[in-house]
Amino acid sequence: MESSMDAARIMEYLKGKSILITGSTGFLGKILVEKILRVQPRVHKMYLLVRAVDAPSAKQRVQQEVIGTELFGLLRDKYCEGFDLFIQDKIVALAGDIADEDLGLDAPTLHGLAKHMDVIVNVAATTNFYERYDVSLDVNVMGVKHLCQFAKRCANLKLLMHVSTAYVSGDSAEVILENPMKPGESLRDGVRLDIDAELRLVSDAKKDLPTTASGDDGNATERKAMKELGLQRARHFGWSNTYVFTKAMGEMVLEQHRGDGDLPAAAVVIVRPSIITSVRADPLPGWMQGTRTIDTLIIGYAKQSISCFLADLRMVMDVIPGDMVVNAMLAAAAAARSEEQPPQAVSIYQVTSSLRNPATYAVLYRAGSRHFDEHPRVRDNGEVIPNTEMRFFPTIPEFRLYMVLTFKLPLEILHLVNMLLCGLFSKLYNDSNRKYNFVMLLVDVYGPFAFFKGCFDDTNVERLRSTMVMKSPEDDMFNFDPKSIDWDDYFYRIHIPGVLKYVCK
Ligand SMILES: NC(=O)c1ccc[n+]([C@@H]2O[C@H](COP(=O)([O-])OP(=O)(O)OC[C@H]3O[C@@H](n4cnc5c(N)ncnc54)[C@H](OP(=O)(O)O)[C@@H]3O)[C@@H](O)[C@H]2O)c1
Repeated sequence: MESSMDAARIMEYLKGKSILITGSTGFLGKILVEKILRVQPRVHKMYLLVRAVDAPSAKQRVQQEVIGTELFGLLRDKYCEGFDLFIQDKIVALAGDIADEDLGLDAPTLHGLAKHMDVIVNVAATTNFYERYDVSLDVNVMGVKHLCQFAKRCANLKLLMHVSTAYVSGDSAEVILENPMKPGESLRDGVRLDIDAELRLVSDAKKDLPTTASGDDGNATERKAMKELGLQRARHFGWSNTYVFTKAMGEMVLEQHRGDGDLPAAAVVIVRPSIITSVRADPLPGWMQGTRTIDTLIIGYAKQSISCFLADLRMVMDVIPGDMVVNAMLAAAAAARSEEQPPQAVSIYQVTSSLRNPATYAVLYRAGSRHFDEHPRVRDNGEVIPNTEMRFFPTIPEFRLYMVLTFKLPLEILHLVNMLLCGLFSKLYNDSNRKYNFVMLLVDVYGPFAFFKGCFDDTNVERLRSTMVMKSPEDDMFNFDPKSIDWDDYFYRIHIPGVLKYVCK
């Protein structure tokens, strides 16, 4: 029988725990660190593994990029002069890299950590859709392997939590269940996926690169080749981009280690959020970091850099605020009991909204129009910029046709004129052509994502939610129910102002 969950149980779970967190300098990682410190000051310690050359640089990064951000304002106000001491007591910055063997830590440090670590939360990833294949494999796949190897050494480990993405399951137009990624299985029938073979392929491809290019040229050649290889391999196995493909392989690595009985008797949990948006409730509504796919619409409109967008306004974009993702992670952590988890199984939670409370692109667009009507954009000279309707292309072919007619044809004419005038407009032509190709590449990489037709099932999350007892106002602190969100109000009052304030600046 499932026991009930409430704020008190989550806070009790965190009490006295030693927690290793990766990815704390990123968007989601910061929200997680702040929340744990705020709801359970008696957590034993949080070890934040960040990429840095040495311990002082790691400490400095944590200070500047995590603790020093606006997100920690509520905590700073709470502790006043005691804030620094509190942080010193609770946070340990570790200089490391999940892509390296032993997480890039020296043997004594690793040994010391392994002795008393209770919980590992892997938030780190490279989230670039068009990342180099070698880098993506190193971070999103080998990084998970290195964390599993570390977990194996932790005698007292209670939980290994891995943050993945709901999009690992591919571009299916169906209800996507919280099913595990089976090692070796790709999204294409009859095509086996062998991670070791992919690693060898990358290494061979690098060796095969022409040796004529060296220095910056060589780096650029390698970068381009690795990016193209990632996309090509992703598509070969049925995924739409390098990011989701390597995140899927990361889950397979975790499944493999679990299946082989290669992890300690800890619970293993995978959290799969969809598109994470700004903080909805606490500690700072609207706070966010980095530009997500849907936010390019808001930023592009605010900066007047785009007049059209690739989206079908009737389609659902699966979004979920960052604080709700963290609340779900904490509830899932407190609920995870290795003795209750079937042996060698991994619990999967899709922290998403499309099934319970879908939000369409139209809701975001309406909220944006309302925002910019009420807060008009102003030029440097104080002149108000009139709001114009944005043009939406509901299919990729329609957008391609528009691009060809509006930009490619004039470019080709320029190309001809340039030849007739012995290269007088070469620079203009080359620059414009490069920009055109870049936009078309973005369409290729992000397009399938914009027209994602699937709907994420969240039965495990709903089950967890149904055990949440709402007895005290504190219980609302861990709300992760998308049904409680009024999307129109959230986009208009919180998310759009948040993107403009914290991302667009
Ligand atoms: N944001 C979303 O919409 C979304 C949606 C679904 C799932 N997710 C998942 O949620 C997690 C967090 O996403 P996010 O948006 O917070 O990402 P983010 O802002 O890009 O942050 C990524 C974090 O990973 C760290 N990292 C990257 N490579 C590393 C390495 N080799 N060793 C150690 N740390 C490394 C980065 O450190 P540096 O500061 O050194 O670069 C950074 O702290 C990821 O696992 C992502 O796949 C995100």
